[in-house]
Amino acid sequence: MSLPGPLPPFYRLVSHERIASTSDEAKALAQQGEPAGTMVWARTQTAGRGRQGRGWVSPVGNFYASLILRPALPVATAAQLGFVAAIAVAEACLALAPEAAISLKWPNDVLLTGRKLAGLLLESQSRSDGALDWLVLGIGINLATYPVEVEYPATALAAIGTDTDAEAMLGALAVSFLVWYERWRDGAGFATIRKEWLARAQGLNQPIRVRLPGETREGVFGGLDTDGALLLDTGTGRQRIAAGEVFPAIAA
Ligand code: BTN
Repeated sequence: MSLPGPLPPFYRLVSHERIASTSDEAKALAQQGEPAGTMVWARTQTAGRGRQGRGWVSPVGNFYASLILRPALPVATAAQLGFVAAIAVAEACLALAPEAAISLKWPNDVLLTGRKLAGLLLESQSRSDGALDWLVLGIGINLATYPVEVEYPATALAAIGTDTDAEAMLGALAVSFLVWYERWRDGAGFATIRKEWLARAQGLNQPIRVRLPGETREGVFGGLDTDGALLLDTGTGRQRIAAGEVFPAIAA
């Protein structure tokens, strides 16, 4: 497969024409001790995985990659990387489609004109002392096509007339991710990431529904807590939600 130009020095690219899941492969490589910066990229996946046990339909033409990271941090802070990566994906999309109406949906989806354009899957392993051993960041971006039979409406960059390809996305994302990862890791910390994420957030101060295991809550999207939890303002006060699925409120 044709390769993009050289990626910044942090990365080591492992390319596949076709693979079950780039995240499964990256996790196997992380287990074998492959270093941070190893990026598994594939043209198509036969068993792509999404969040919450869902599949990720992966035809040729879209972008599928998984990156191994090994920041020296407690595993509890690993979720911050989802916000770092969502900002980086948003910037990479804007580099290729400057007019695109890109926004971010909690916890780490990237939207185009309010529909899902990209998703992130974070999987990690910790050591016995609670520190992170590795984290695999799986990234799927709809460039050419998007699934129709999905709960949250999806779209692709092609839907706004952007003609791009996975090589171009890989090049743009490698640059934007490194910028934000280093900013986060080397000083700025989560406060800067949180501010940037909120500046691009979809539906801030708007009514939303949040689906949790076994229940759905309604309220106003009040922002992000200092650790990335969603703040939901309800009639009975402000709630912190650490994991769940956000949908627009049903119109009365
Ligand atoms: C989501 O549900 O929104 C997350 C989707 C993540 C899909 C990507 S595609 C590359 C990597 N390999 C996988 O099997 N999943 C992730």
